[in-house]
Amino acid sequence: MTATILRLMRVEDLPGVNALLIRAFSTARRDEGFSCPALALCRMEFLRFYQQDTPGSCWVAEAEGRLCGVVFGHGWGRAGWIGPLAVSPECQKRGLGRALLERCTDELRGLGCRLVGLETDPASLNNLAFYSVLGCTPGPLLVDLVHEIEPGWVVETEPLLISYGQEPAPFESHLPAFLEANGVEADYLHLARLLQQHRFGESWLEMEGDQVRLFAALQIIPVSVQERAGVGRIMAVVGPGGTGADRLEAFIHSAAARSGCSHVVVRLSTWQMGLLAALLRRGWRLINSHLRFYITGGEKRGNGGMHLNKWD
Ligand SMILES: CC(C)(COP(=O)(O)OP(=O)(O)OC[C@H]1O[C@@H](n2cnc3c(N)ncnc32)[C@H](O)[C@@H]1OP(=O)(O)O)[C@@H](O)C(=O)NCCC(=O)NCCS
Repeated sequence: MTATILRLMRVEDLPGVNALLIRAFSTARRDEGFSCPALALCRMEFLRFYQQDTPGSCWVAEAEGRLCGVVFGHGWGRAGWIGPLAVSPECQKRGLGRALLERCTDELRGLGCRLVGLETDPASLNNLAFYSVLGCTPGPLLVDLVHEIEPGWVVETEPLLISYGQEPAPFESHLPAFLEANGVEADYLHLARLLQQHRFGESWLEMEGDQVRLFAALQIIPVSVQERAGVGRIMAVVGPGGTGADRLEAFIHSAAARSGCSHVVVRLSTWQMGLLAALLRRGWRLINSHLRFYITGGEKRGNGGMHLNKWD
C-alpha cells in the first residue's frame, strides 16, 4: 500500500489544488443531491491570496506524487479559521480529512490562535457528520445578504472614509487599539496588508477627527472564474455596539461604491436578529447560509461591539 504524506502547500501546487477542490466539492454535492452540484474553478489569484495568508498552515496530502487532500489555514492574531478543506473522492474515508484538519489546527494554535473555527454548508449532512464526529462545537448559522448599490452612491464629505491603499498610516497606528476596544480577537491589520499586497480588495476606516468609528475589509476579486466582477464581499466589519442597520448600510455602501462595486455582500450571524431583520426590511436579499463550527474556543453572544466576518 502506498504511503500518504502530509507536507506544506507550495505555490506550484495551486493548479492541482484547484482541480482537487472542484472535483471533491462537485462530487460531494452531486452525491448529496444538490440541484446545481458542479462548481467552477477558483481564480488563481484567489488561491494565491489564500495560500499567502498564513503559508505555514496550508497543507497537502500526497501519495505517489499525486495530491489527494488539501487544507488552507488562516491565522489572524488570536483568531484562526480553516477553509477550504477537501480530500479527493477516491481517498475519502481513510482518515485524511481528520489528519489535515488536525495538522492545520495544531499550526494555528502554535501561532497563538485561541479560537479556531470553520464554516460549512448546513445542507451537507456528510459535513455535519464529519465535523461532529471530530468533536467540533456548532456555533451560529450565518447568512449572506446582498444589496445593490445605487449608481452614484458616494458620501463625498461626511463621514470621512479612508482606504488602506491610499493612507495606510491611520490603519497602522489606530486599528489594533480600535479592535481591542471592541473586543475583536482577529488581527485585521494583517488582513488589510494582505488585501493591499495582493490587490485583492480594499480596507476602509470611517474617521471622526482622529478617532476610528468603523472598520471594513472588502474583497473585490471574485472567487471563481464564473462569478461576475463588481460584487464586493465584506470580509470583516467592526464598529461599536448599537451600530444600527442604517449606519452599517451607509458605511459599507460607501466603501463598496468607492471600490468600484455595483453590489455588496455581507455575512451576518443569525444571533444578530435585530440587524438581520432590519437589513431584510431595507431590501437586502438572503442568498446563502453557512454553519459555523469551533474546533477550539468560541465566540460569545453579544460581546458588546458589532463584529461581522466572512471566514470562508
Ligand atoms: C469532508 C471531507 C474533507 C472528509 O474527509 P475524509 O478523509 O473522508 O474524512 P475522514 O476519513 O478523516 O473522517 C474522519 C471521521 O469522520 C467520520 N465521517 C466522515 N464522514 C462521515 C459521515 N458522512 N457520516 C459519519 N461519519 C463520517 C469518519 O468515519 C471518521 O471517523 P473516525 O475517525 O472515528 O473513523 C471529505 O468528505 C471531502 O473532501 N468532502 C468534499 C469537500 C467538502 O465538503 N469539504 C468540507 C468543506 S467545509
